[in-house]
Amino acid sequence: MTEPRPEPSRLVVLVSGSGTNLQALIDASADPAYGARIVAVGADRDGIEGLARAQRHGIPTFVDRVADHPDRAAWDVSLAETVASYEPDLVVLAGFMKLTGPAFLDRFGGRTVNTHPALSPSFPGMHGPRDALAHGVKVTGATLFVVDAGVDTGPIVAQVAVPVEDDDDVESLHERIKTSERAMLVEWVGRLAREPHSIDGRRIRFHPKEQS
Ligand code: GRF
Repeated sequence: MTEPRPEPSRLVVLVSGSGTNLQALIDASADPAYGARIVAVGADRDGIEGLARAQRHGIPTFVDRVADHPDRAAWDVSLAETVASYEPDLVVLAGFMKLTGPAFLDRFGGRTVNTHPALSPSFPGMHGPRDALAHGVKVTGATLFVVDAGVDTGPIVAQVAVPVEDDDDVESLHERIKTSERAMLVEWVGRLAREPHSIDGRRIRFHPKEQS
């Protein structure tokens, strides 16, 4: 069982893009009652709005690019070491467009979550909104899950359903998903930080604290 520590949980957030999910976590963690604070934001690329958002809030940032390493395995080791240097309790992949590898999972397996813009197990991979639209589903959504070695396959922490409208294109659908996704991420990262929980196979259980 993961028992939260009395002080705010330390979050490292990894991003690759605009960072609106990151921003939602930055805003939520401004309230001490949230129970978590972001100690670093990392990215696999330079020059993205996600990093700029962190910098504007005085949060330390780092960039670790695959291209700067001999191979993907070396990048994975390096990323794991850099993240470890911030001593996170929880790692949040918030629009991080790379798969973390074995070295990362050895260190942070069970305490790394990712958000995916589809209702798992449907439409895994890079194009959740596009694939949902192409399939003609009427409801899609977002999934927060504990990262494992697969592509968007880990144990599910939370899901939120979002309607598909007749006149949606990929952009309008993804924006609607992201509005719900951000609220889900904030709610459930907070619960992971504040509430004891355990992972039992594919099921995540929260254990109410005993009243004193
Ligand atoms: C989110 O929908 C995330 O699930 C997906 O990319 C989007 C990132 O958005 N993988 P942002 O960078 O947080 O604005």
